[in-house]
Order: sequence, then structure tokens, then C-alpha cells
Amino acid sequence: MNKINAVITGVAGYVPNYIMTNQEIAEIVDTTDEWILSRVGIKERRVLKKEEGVGVSYLATKAMQELIRKTNLDPMDVEAVIFATTTPDYVFPNSAALTAEKTGMKNALCFDISAACSGFIYALEIASGFISCGKYKKVVVLSGDVLTSITNYKDRNTCPLFGDGCGAVLLEATHDDLGIIDSILKADGAGFKYLHQKAGGSVHPASLETVERNEHTLWQEGKVVFKYAVSKMSDACTEIMEKNKLSKDDIQWVVPHQANLRIIDAVAHRMGIDPKKMMVNIEKYGNTSAGTIPLCLWDWESKLKKGDKLILTAFGAGFTWGAVYLKWGYDPK
Ligand code: UT7
Repeated sequence: MNKINAVITGVAGYVPNYIMTNQEIAEIVDTTDEWILSRVGIKERRVLKKEEGVGVSYLATKAMQELIRKTNLDPMDVEAVIFATTTPDYVFPNSAALTAEKTGMKNALCFDISAACSGFIYALEIASGFISCGKYKKVVVLSGDVLTSITNYKDRNTCPLFGDGCGAVLLEATHDDLGIIDSILKADGAGFKYLHQKAGGSVHPASLETVERNEHTLWQEGKVVFKYAVSKMSDACTEIMEKNKLSKDDIQWVVPHQANLRIIDAVAHRMGIDPKKMMVNIEKYGNTSAGTIPLCLWDWESKLKKGDKLILTAFGAGFTWGAVYLKWGYDPK
């Protein structure tokens, strides 16, 4: 029997309406539009306002509703929902179950995964495994974050970087030579010291002291993370291309995690790929962590053709990183 592949058959996304410009950030901390644009490549980001009283499952629900409309999906046919996020609605229950309940996916097993900015490519690997083993035919991957909920707006080193957004993709079984072909995914817990949230977990549960010390926000040593991100993403991309005998001309698109435009440019340079083949939307959304790659696919969907060869690559807290090689499953509608 032919191998079963998992192919993406639809993509959707959602970003909150509120646009926070660099000018607004410059009114909060000592920075400028010029610094943020030239050092990171961000012009604006979307923010889920606190007064809405909702979390990441609100974004995922909106994205999922669009996905259902676009693909004519009967939500009762979905057998598994995997949600990649670092900012779930609650510590428990998982946000996959909360989103599934709001969107009618009542027959699905649901769980969240924690792989920070690499969450989408990790979730694709799991979804692909579920499908290629033959037991599951329709799997949904939700992937996104409300990173502004863990952003320290007193720290100019980090607060300009982050935004909120979520993507949703449907994966289905196929015997065609399409979909997820290969992946290289790695982790190194030694990266903890460079990028983490100090409190709110079982080591330092929330207390008056942790709140006073602002320890429920993201902390990173940006320069170190930058260097690791460039080398690990470039190495993973080069390795997956060599393993699959792909030249740079065989690749139509590289979809990199959007943390810094200078990281994306450096990865393109190291891979020897034409920068025009790099999907970039960091200027309008900033770093939405697990949201960046599916939001790129959502923005670029009309340019993607059946059979196009894509490399997805990400790097994030953990450290976690990797690359996925896939063949796009459908022509623009
Ligand atoms: O997605 C998760 C993974 N995260 C990442 O991939 C992030 C990786 N890191 C980065 O993207 C960059 O390191 C940052 C954007 C975070 C920082 O850029 P950088 O070019 O590495 O800046 P730096 O930290 O080396 O700081 C350079 C200068 C410093 O001033 P001095 O010491 O040279 O006088 C900073 O104080 O820029 C200063 N600076 C700022 N100035 C204006 C830092 N943040 C700001 C700011 N506005 N917002």
C-alpha cells in the first residue's frame, strides 16, 4: 500500500483589531520608530486588549471559524486538535479543548503543546505522525499566542518585539506525493537561561513577591538568542535540503519564524536562497511566537500553488528549533 502523507488542505488566521504602532511603544519606553524598524523590522503589532477579557482561544476560535467556512469542513469530522501555544487561556484545561468546544469539534481528542516559537513545526510533526500511521484522517493544528499577556512594558529590550495572533490549518490524509515530506526537529534545555518566564510555574508559583518583581513576563538575553536562532535555523534548513537532495532552485518558499528581520536575512544568506523567496510579514504583526508561520501561510495563500516546495523553519525558547519540508497541497481558489 502507498505511504499515507498528511497534507495541509486549508489555512486561516486571526489577529486582533487593535494596532499598536512603534510610536505608541515610544510613548511607553525610551525607544524610537527608527530603532525598532532598523534593528528588528517591525512597524506595528496587533494587541488583544485586556478589556476584551479573553485569551488565545478567542483568536483560535476566530481562525477556526474562518477555516471551517473556507474548507466546508464539518467540525464533527475532526478527530484531533493540537494547539501550539505558550500563552494558553489557563494553566488547565487546555486551550485546544476550549476552542474545540466553541467551534463544534466535539469528536476530537484535544491537547496543547509547549514548544514556544517552534510550536507550529512541532505540532505539524505530531499531526503528520497521527495521519501517516493510518488512524486519523482529519487533524487541526491551532498555533498562536497572546504574547502581549507576558510582555514587560517597562523593558525596552523586549516590549517592542511582540504581538498577538493565531493561525489554524487543516491536515488530511492523502496517498499523493504532497504534504509533509520530512522534518528535523531539535531541542536543548541548556537554552533555558537565555529565554524564559521566571515565575508562574511549579518552581516559582505566583505570589505577591513574584508579581512585584514582574517575573510573570518574558525575559531574554537577546543577543545570545539572536546568534543561536541564525545558526540553528540555517543549519536545520541546509540539513533538510541535503537530506532530500533539494537545491536552492528547487525551493519555491522558505517560511521562517518572524522574530527579527535581520535573523531572516541572515538565514537566507546562509542558505544561499533568494531573499524574495523568504515569506516576511514581521512588519505588521511583530513576533507572535507560535503564530508567525501559520500567519505567513495565511497571508501568502493566494501565491501558493499545488506542488510548491516549502521549507518551514523556527527557533524558540527551550531552546527548540527545526525545519519541515512540505509540498503544498492545492492551487489558489
Ligand atoms: O522568538 C523568540 C526568540 N527571540 C529572538 O529570536 C530574539 C533575538 N534577538 C533579537 O532579535 C535582538 O537581539 C534584539 C532585537 C532583542 C535586540 O537587538 P540587538 O541589535 O541585539 O540590540 P542589543 O541588545 O545589542 O542592544 C544594542 C543597543 C544597546 O545600547 P548600547 O548598550 O549599545 O548603548 C541597547 O540598550 O540598543 C539599545 N536598545 C534599544 N535602543 C532603543 C535595546 N533596545 C532598545 C530599544 N530602543 N527598544
